[in-house]
Amino acid sequence: MTATANGVTAGALAGGASSAVRSGAAVGGAPFVQAFGRGAYAYDKAGRAYVDYLMAYGPLLFGHAHPGLVRGLDALAAGGTVFGSTTEDEERLAARIAAHLPSVERLRFVSTGTEAMMSAVRVARAFTGRSLIARFAGNYHGQFDAALEAAGASAYLGGERGRTGLPASTRADCVVARYNDLDDLDVRLGGRERELAAIAVEPVVGNMGLVLPSPGFLDGIFARARRCGALVIFDEVITWLRLGLGGAQERFGLRPDLTALGKAMGGGYPLAAFGGRADVMAALAPEGAAFTGGTFSGNPFSIALGHRTLDLIERDSQILPKLAATAERLAAGIRAIFAARGLRYAVVQLESMVDFAFRPGPPVRNADERREASAPAFAAYYHAMRARGVLLAPSPNELMFVSTEHGLPEIDKTLEAVDAAIDELQRKEIV
Ligand SMILES: Cc1ncc(COP(=O)(O)O)c(C=O)c1O
Repeated sequence: MTATANGVTAGALAGGASSAVRSGAAVGGAPFVQAFGRGAYAYDKAGRAYVDYLMAYGPLLFGHAHPGLVRGLDALAAGGTVFGSTTEDEERLAARIAAHLPSVERLRFVSTGTEAMMSAVRVARAFTGRSLIARFAGNYHGQFDAALEAAGASAYLGGERGRTGLPASTRADCVVARYNDLDDLDVRLGGRERELAAIAVEPVVGNMGLVLPSPGFLDGIFARARRCGALVIFDEVITWLRLGLGGAQERFGLRPDLTALGKAMGGGYPLAAFGGRADVMAALAPEGAAFTGGTFSGNPFSIALGHRTLDLIERDSQILPKLAATAERLAAGIRAIFAARGLRYAVVQLESMVDFAFRPGPPVRNADERREASAPAFAAYYHAMRARGVLLAPSPNELMFVSTEHGLPEIDKTLEAVDAAIDELQRKEIV
């Protein structure tokens, strides 16, 4: 392996990573190479510990290798890890999830959030007999074609349009509007409402930093969908469990037609699901004509981890409130540092998610505003934090995920690092 000037490693692993963001290209320098993880910490091969706020981009609600999740995995594996047949535990997990999410009358398991959203979109198209999907710039629904135009997270690459690998035909069946902007949605739909199968949305966005829906925005989406016979798909891949067992839909008192779940539900293992109204899900084969499948979908190993994850949350009603309190402390500490240093960056926190952008003023509302943030400042900040033993996602579109394993020592260490990193950036006149 050889490291090139921009830190991208050239070897058999394309771009040096299995996911573009991991190459660290957005922040330059050598990518972080992890050796192992334990609790709130990521370790490099020299054994150096970093307080980890990547948390694998969300799944690690309980940190790395939580005993309640990883105990007895050998025994579990000894019973077989993938069957190709349905299991009772799979049916039981579906029922447990449905009990927490009343909108999810029927669901199907898959392995990734991408599959969950891709399948939800297909079901919506099958049920309505329409093709058009409306989405919002800066939301990220996974790496399938219909989801990528103007997507958030690190899927926003810019570059030459004809070289993204996305077919023009896919673009023709997608409308991408500004988040938190119903007028823009109306303009972009521009008379195509009768072609609309679904409006897909992250009810709270975790892929252009952390962006909350403005009052009335989600209701406005439902009103528009209902008016023209389209469905609403909530992408709760990040928000389900992070916002509690009822997800964002319970928090906002809304009942989407379809919901995608993933990330934290598998306790660090690949497990995701999509589901919703029974009549809509009946569009799926064998009842209907829409196909979904997957060799690893609902495999017993991931399903068992799904049960363990729910066990941890259901058995301790204080676990998520305590986690939120830790995140509040982190957010308050960062706010205090900015105030003391005369910086007007808004710190946003919701449950275990914390975020800010190098953009003075009120919290970001959409992808255009997020792009106003200083990319060089973020890159310098990322490296200044890493040098001080705190690991952030190497992209200005991500946020800090706090886990149950982050305690006061980790928060204190992080705040010391933030203060010192910002001091460095101010002395260098980067901010
Ligand atoms: C909101 C949301 N939906 C879907 C996905 C895709 O999930 P996966 O990476 O498991 O395919 C992600 C991943 O970051 C996400 O944040």
